[in-house]
Amino acid sequence: MKNQALKMPVSFVIFGITGDLAENKLIPALFNLFRYGKLPKKFQIIGYSRRPIERPEFLAYLEKSLEKLKPSKTDLSQFFSHINYIQGHFELLSDYRRLGEHLLKIDDEIFRECSNKLFYLAVPPVWYETIAKNLSHSGLTIPCGGRLGWTRVLIEKPFGHDFKTSRKLNLVLSRLFKEDQIFRIDHYLGKGTSEEILKFRFTGNAREKIWNDRNIEKIKIQLLERKGVNDRGAFYDEIGALRDVGQNHLLQMLALIVMKKPSKMVAKEIRKARAEILEKLQPISKKDLENRVIKGQYIGYLKERGVKTDSKTETFFHLDVKLDKAHWNKTKFILEAGKALNEDSVGIKVYFKDKKSSLTFNYNKSVGKTPEAYEKVLMDCVLGDQAIFNSTAEVEAAWRFITPILENWKKLPLVPYTRGSRPEEISSKLPLPS
Ligand code: BG6
Repeated sequence: MKNQALKMPVSFVIFGITGDLAENKLIPALFNLFRYGKLPKKFQIIGYSRRPIERPEFLAYLEKSLEKLKPSKTDLSQFFSHINYIQGHFELLSDYRRLGEHLLKIDDEIFRECSNKLFYLAVPPVWYETIAKNLSHSGLTIPCGGRLGWTRVLIEKPFGHDFKTSRKLNLVLSRLFKEDQIFRIDHYLGKGTSEEILKFRFTGNAREKIWNDRNIEKIKIQLLERKGVNDRGAFYDEIGALRDVGQNHLLQMLALIVMKKPSKMVAKEIRKARAEILEKLQPISKKDLENRVIKGQYIGYLKERGVKTDSKTETFFHLDVKLDKAHWNKTKFILEAGKALNEDSVGIKVYFKDKKSSLTFNYNKSVGKTPEAYEKVLMDCVLGDQAIFNSTAEVEAAWRFITPILENWKKLPLVPYTRGSRPEEISSKLPLPS
């Protein structure tokens, strides 16, 4: 099946090819897959953005985004022969028809057969609905490759702004596409460490016997970053840390570390096992909020480009989380994330009750490391494997837990912290139980 999927031509359509995500993650990921021979033999990448750009300028942009990977001249020029750019507006149905003609031309003249189509929405979330509707209404998502033909839509997080908007988005998508066409991305699930956690936990049975609240006192999940918001100020200021990485990456890490062994290691069962945990997150009551949640903002944030000068957006949060689930309701879960902190440290630490031992699952990144999570995201989508993608149930359960916290967000004090602070220094400013 895998071989067959790679034999068919694929057109990768990237909406927002000139944006941050495409520049930093998608173009490098596609290039690496190409130079290591992992992409289907016949493929084309079609960048779609609003800006009119001539080909030389487009290629210079691609070359810059690949600088870190130190590509050879030959690899670059071969890669470029698979890429083209089409200027179009996200809201104009007529532009999608033009895109359709372009894709048809590629099928006729380059592939000489019908290609499968992958549509990647690397755009700000406000565009998701519009693009999905236009894709569907222009007929672009009708597959043509016979029995194995497909069209798939990849959607980035944040998936919605709260429970209500994520549900609305899910409803819209479910009217336009089948669930096996929708790939909701949480790139943390595509990271090697997430795969290692599954292997560690579910290879053999012995370990599962100690994996419960009788033996595990506390699990700490952190995504600490040294960098500030850099040039993403305008986007980040609307979102804040909890929506940016809490509702998704950290909760998914929590689900992975405690979920029960899926009855089969297949996408449907793995997604179900993760959803089961997210559905058991104990709601944090209004009364409890001050004891279990901290939010902070680094000093200097208000001067970042794109940030409102009186912004109350959090750049750090700490959550004490509990699960209403047999075998886990006595374990404490701590979720912490933030920008402009003292270190780059991402991982899960499991503390055992015997006090002598702990276990760490490290997600740390190093500068210049290949963006392997996005390589996996793209390849698994081509192969049609949805295991690392979020189901409707997962996304909605995560929002169901986060939304009530956000509704009372304004009532919580915003702790200012200096750049380079340790999370404990921020947390210590409030009386949280240790
Ligand atoms: C993204 C967030 O989803 O994850 C960023 O939007 C964050 O704010 C990033 O920096 C962290 O991911 P990674 O792969 O760089 O650890």
